[in-house]
Amino acid sequence: MPLWSGRVGAALDPAVWELLRANDAELLPYDCEATAEHAARLHGAGLLEAGELADAEERLAEIAQDPSAILADDEDVHSAIERLLGPVGRKIHAGRSRNDQVAAALRLYVRDACAEAREEIDALALVTLSFAEAEADTLMPGYTHLQRGQPVTLGHHLLAWVEMLDRDRTRFAAASDAAAASPLGAGALAGSTLGLDPPVGQMRNSIDAVADRDFALDYLYAAAMLAQHLSRIGEEVVLWSTSEFGFLRLPENASTGSSMMPQKLNPDVAELVRGKAGTALGRLAGLLAVLKGLPLAYDRDLQEDKAPVFDARRDVRSSLRGMTVLVSGLAANRERLAVAVSDPLLLATDVAEDLVRGGIPFRDAHEQVAASVRDGSFSSGATAADSVAARGAPGPGGVRDAITAARRRFGAAR
Ligand code: ARG
Repeated sequence: MPLWSGRVGAALDPAVWELLRANDAELLPYDCEATAEHAARLHGAGLLEAGELADAEERLAEIAQDPSAILADDEDVHSAIERLLGPVGRKIHAGRSRNDQVAAALRLYVRDACAEAREEIDALALVTLSFAEAEADTLMPGYTHLQRGQPVTLGHHLLAWVEMLDRDRTRFAAASDAAAASPLGAGALAGSTLGLDPPVGQMRNSIDAVADRDFALDYLYAAAMLAQHLSRIGEEVVLWSTSEFGFLRLPENASTGSSMMPQKLNPDVAELVRGKAGTALGRLAGLLAVLKGLPLAYDRDLQEDKAPVFDARRDVRSSLRGMTVLVSGLAANRERLAVAVSDPLLLATDVAEDLVRGGIPFRDAHEQVAASVRDGSFSSGATAADSVAARGAPGPGGVRDAITAARRRFGAAR
């Protein structure tokens, strides 16, 4: 029986039931946690005996473990918990509504998902740092417009991946902070007369408390940004592992074959994370659209917040874990990188800067070097190794310093 069956006489049409039912079993442990907190507040107000509280706590700990106990005729996880609690379940909804309950549970869920994301980001960053360390001296062309620009080291390029991940950690931390407030006590929208003590971190406004889903959007934004970063990393792995580039060799434990062409080794992990970025930004745009124009306080439209958040968490986890395996197994093809970086034109900017040091205005130097490139007379006495060393950060010393600093940041995150 729905929680509101006292009001609605006729049995609901099955088609309506199918529309109403929330697919929210993933909230179970978080809702149990929020429900236990509510039970303690009821006890504090003298509305639940000590024995009833102990019973509720014990049962909630069990209920949290077993999503299979949720039945097809439970409208949502909240209804299931109330039913599974037995007699004390009939008391436990005093002073609350599913509106503050679901907001509380989803906030706990998002906090946990953010903590998980940060751990998985750290793991990917650490394997990327190891790869960067191994390739701190490996010269390669750096690109703009996907055209060869100036020499860098592979280590320096890999450190750019780490910087993206570093910002992702910050964004998940911010989403976690946004989720940290407590909507408990807001009830349906306006509190209750029961005199419960406010929860720790209670939100200031009861209407906002049940209407706010900013924290879910912050999470989806952090997930979309991460996916966008992983898609760019993925694209570089795809590109650099082609025969045409040949800069990277794919690990067999993170590559696929072709069902027809026996020779193929395919970068499906990198392609999947590249593709998932599209889905991730769709989830963010989708929930923004659900919330747009929605009157305060609670509306059932808000039930639509669950699927994108749950799905984002699954993709964040699987993408980061897959990429961690992929990146930890990537091997640089140093011969191909050496051939690519031996292109003398990569040193054109250095030659122009030499002229600047000799007192020539940069635009004149640029034109002079460009003319030598056009007529085929360009030459430089320097090497790519000289070039990266002279620029500092992209060179081996700069890379090693940056790795040490980054290890400290990612290590400190634990
Ligand atoms: N399953 C609902 C949701 O996800 C819970 C809140 C229902 N509240 C209500 N007033 N019908 O939003």
